[in-house]
Amino acid sequence: MTAATALAHPNIAFIKYWGDKDPVLRIPANGSLSMNLDNLYSLTKVSFDPELVWDELFIDGQVAGDTAHQRVSHFLDHVRKLSGIASKARVESENNFPTGVGVASSASAFAALSLAASRAAGLDLDERSLSRLARRGSGSACRSVPAGFVEWQPGEDDERSYAKSIAPADHWQLYDCIAIISQEHKETGSQEGHRLADSSLLQRTRVEDAPRRLGLCREAILKRDFEAFADIVEFDSNLMHAVMMTSQPQLFYWLPATIAVMQAVSEWRKSGTAVCFTIDAGPNVHIITLEENSPGVIADLMHIPGVKKVLVSRPGAGVRLVNG
Ligand code: DP6
Repeated sequence: MTAATALAHPNIAFIKYWGDKDPVLRIPANGSLSMNLDNLYSLTKVSFDPELVWDELFIDGQVAGDTAHQRVSHFLDHVRKLSGIASKARVESENNFPTGVGVASSASAFAALSLAASRAAGLDLDERSLSRLARRGSGSACRSVPAGFVEWQPGEDDERSYAKSIAPADHWQLYDCIAIISQEHKETGSQEGHRLADSSLLQRTRVEDAPRRLGLCREAILKRDFEAFADIVEFDSNLMHAVMMTSQPQLFYWLPATIAVMQAVSEWRKSGTAVCFTIDAGPNVHIITLEENSPGVIADLMHIPGVKKVLVSRPGAGVRLVNG
């Protein structure tokens, strides 16, 4: 038996990935840019065991459901193909945050799985190859492989579609305060959402304009220009949600408290606080601010009716092996 354990953080996208050129290889319609979230993680142990007759998957100590099992087993088939190993594997994964709430657990889960499974299978992949491998499990997982602030170059094929760091985690002390509004499992996951993107009239414009938004966001991060950063991050999030809302069938992820938080953040920003919002495929709102503002922002968020709790994170490292 061979085993390895890896730890990876989820990431929050400032310029979003939405829609695929190739849904099987997960070649995205547009490039994206994100920050790893240090305080949240997935810890995953993979053991290839010749005694096993099928792959086993445990998430937070429970036997995983069929959909998750199939997705992981399919991913392990790819690792078996790359390494030449034939054995089935036991995968034990834990998250220190709730799954399915708009904090992308699939990103940290597949980034950790990629490193643990490839090592356990005897492969020693470099960062680029690992990012490409993670992408096949979940698109945004390729961005949880490198450290800090990370850009996913869309590429045209498997070889050229991978993520790399544009700045280390200590480049800018941005804080992500995640206002948890609902912990229920979302009805339409990202995988299905990506398939619907092209049914919106707005998707084409969104994709065509992506290099411009990426350029503005990258520059704002590199210069630590919060105002410029806030403008493009909110715009990009609104644009993705406009695509979601105009897809057929429509996807509408917001709840009343989601809008209340967006409005409050806009008010705080108008009154001079460095703060902005971004929302993934769920009702929860990520409020990005600077370290010094975070205690005040968290306290104010907790006063908004419908905000159940606030998770806080600073920029995080890339995927790594740990003693398991
Ligand atoms: C809205 O990476 O979760 O969070 O490849 O199907 O796992 P799959 O999709 P996923 O999509 C992420 C969508 C998003 C935006 C983003 O993180 O860029």
